[in-house]
Amino acid sequence: MKHASSPNKPIYLVGDSFGGCLALAIAAHNPEIDLVLILANPATSFDRTQLQPLLPLLESLPDEFHVTVPYLLSFIMGDPLKMAMVNIDSMLPPGQIIQRLAGNLTDLLAHLYGLADIIPKETLLWKLKLLRSASSYSNSRLHAVNAEVLVIASGKDNMLPSENEAQRLGNSLRNCTVRYFKDNGHTILLEDGINLLSIIKATSKYRRSKRRDYVKDFLPPSKSEFKNAIKNNSWYLNITGPVMLSTMENGKIVRGLAGVPREGPVLLVGYHMLMGLEIVPLVQEYMMQTKILLRGIAHPSLFTQLVESRPDASSFIDMLKLYGATPVTASNFFKLLATKSHVLLYPGGAREALHRKGEEYKVIWPDQPEFIRMAAKFGATIVPFGVVGEDDIAQLVLDYDDLKSIPILGDRIRSENEEAARRGLAVRADMDGEIANQMLYIPGLLPKIPGRFYFFFGKPIHTKGRQDLVKDREKARELYLQVKSEVQNNMNYLLKKREEDPYRNFIDRTMYRAFSATSGDVPTFDF
Ligand SMILES: *[C@@H]1O[C@H](CO)[C@@H](O)[C@H](O)[C@H]1NC(C)=O
Ligand SMILES: *[C@@H]1O[C@H](CO)[C@@H](O)[C@H](O)[C@H]1NC(C)=O
Ligand SMILES: *[C@@H]1O[C@H](CO)[C@@H](O)[C@H](O)[C@H]1NC(C)=O
Ligand SMILES: *[C@@H]1O[C@H](CO)[C@@H](O)[C@H](O)[C@H]1NC(C)=O
Repeated sequence: MKHASSPNKPIYLVGDSFGGCLALAIAAHNPEIDLVLILANPATSFDRTQLQPLLPLLESLPDEFHVTVPYLLSFIMGDPLKMAMVNIDSMLPPGQIIQRLAGNLTDLLAHLYGLADIIPKETLLWKLKLLRSASSYSNSRLHAVNAEVLVIASGKDNMLPSENEAQRLGNSLRNCTVRYFKDNGHTILLEDGINLLSIIKATSKYRRSKRRDYVKDFLPPSKSEFKNAIKNNSWYLNITGPVMLSTMENGKIVRGLAGVPREGPVLLVGYHMLMGLEIVPLVQEYMMQTKILLRGIAHPSLFTQLVESRPDASSFIDMLKLYGATPVTASNFFKLLATKSHVLLYPGGAREALHRKGEEYKVIWPDQPEFIRMAAKFGATIVPFGVVGEDDIAQLVLDYDDLKSIPILGDRIRSENEEAARRGLAVRADMDGEIANQMLYIPGLLPKIPGRFYFFFGKPIHTKGRQDLVKDREKARELYLQVKSEVQNNMNYLLKKREEDPYRNFIDRTMYRAFSATSGDVPTFDF
């Protein structure tokens, strides 16, 4: 019925445990309807559980052994402690948390044991048998499921082998994404710290029509998601102590982002540090100072399962997606500029972010002025920026040249990247020269006592009214080279100036914070 009223919209079915079997059965019977199934620890693995052998036992048990019921119920109910934590503010002093937790827990357990009196053995048996038949029914029809599926699997599921099951479903279903939550129990959707909408957003499962539109279907992070991220990233911002400098229209350099225009479309174009180490401080500071969410344009591999062999829910890549990362395509770029967004673009892409030893702070960009004409078409303001600091937090010990010559590892990197190319995910494979080499891999890093990150945003370059840039390739190329050399110059400036920063070292910053009366930014070099 719902389908008939809006046939172009997907229908979301959320199935928890038994409901997961039900959702799969519905999908198998309705292959022509556009369904998105969200399955939380689905009971399709029932035939492999500890409960299965208990069935005949329970049947033969006299009623006096009813005491086993609370035990079985607790299996089904999951982790009462995590459930009792829901809505308790974790910022409260520990004493108050414990007090409230104890109250919640008492309530919850009273319910559990109360249930044991209310639910007779027959009911429980009936429920278990129902699970068994639902499980075998949906398993026999997995092949008929066309729907897009997201499986949420708990690592501490006491009732079902959910981790293995998620892997099995991931392999047997046509279009299935899996996310593991290693610390959660069976009833994950009722547990503290789990927000289903955040999971749907972070896995790019939210869409309003047949295909996901990364611009129109993007839901910005909520206030609580942003607060969460600030909390999660605070250690990283503490150790990197980012300094942001920007350039006003009159050429004056200021601390902070006052020089970056607020009115979109704005195109930030800059250097990609090793493994994108600058992204978190950049996006977070940008959000805090301008109240604008930067939309990063990222390698398309990040939007598939290829990059992660075991996708944990709290992965960095999911976080990037939650905060608006978009796969690099001309049409996404077009739509972002058309909606006056603030776009973050790295022309050097993966090649720059996974650079070799000795290539720190060397801009490695393609020859084609790829983004200038598109920016001019929308009258976007281009802000070139340089960033330094990667060599101050880690030393690159193994780069691509080293890794590819290690026998098994090198083969794996090559085969994974060939697989990506087969799926049409390689970027710039058709180009010549260094930039065509966009291999993805994890380099070997050796941490250091942290120094500091410095960002320097150049003077905004206005393309509004510059139709000549759209038509004249030579002019576009000139501007492109100007932007590129400005990024390089900004980095050279920072590399020189950071030597004068008395607080470049983490330890000096910590001392400053400890003895300073103000809680503002830690000072830096004079500019
Ligand atoms: C736990 O307690 C808090 C406040 O003390 C309340 O808002 C919340 O709903 C309770 N949670 C449960 C699961 O009872
Ligand atoms: C899964 O389904 C979605 C929505 O229909 C589609 O956009 C996506 O390309 C599919 N993925 C695969 C691997 O088929
Ligand atoms: C922050 O960390 C918590 C727990 O470690 C996790 O549940 C949550 O998803 C994280 N939030 C973000 C936005 O990454
Ligand atoms: C980061 O530093 C601030 C003060 O400078 C401090 O309040 C906070 O606890 C620190 N956070 C972490 C995770 O170390």
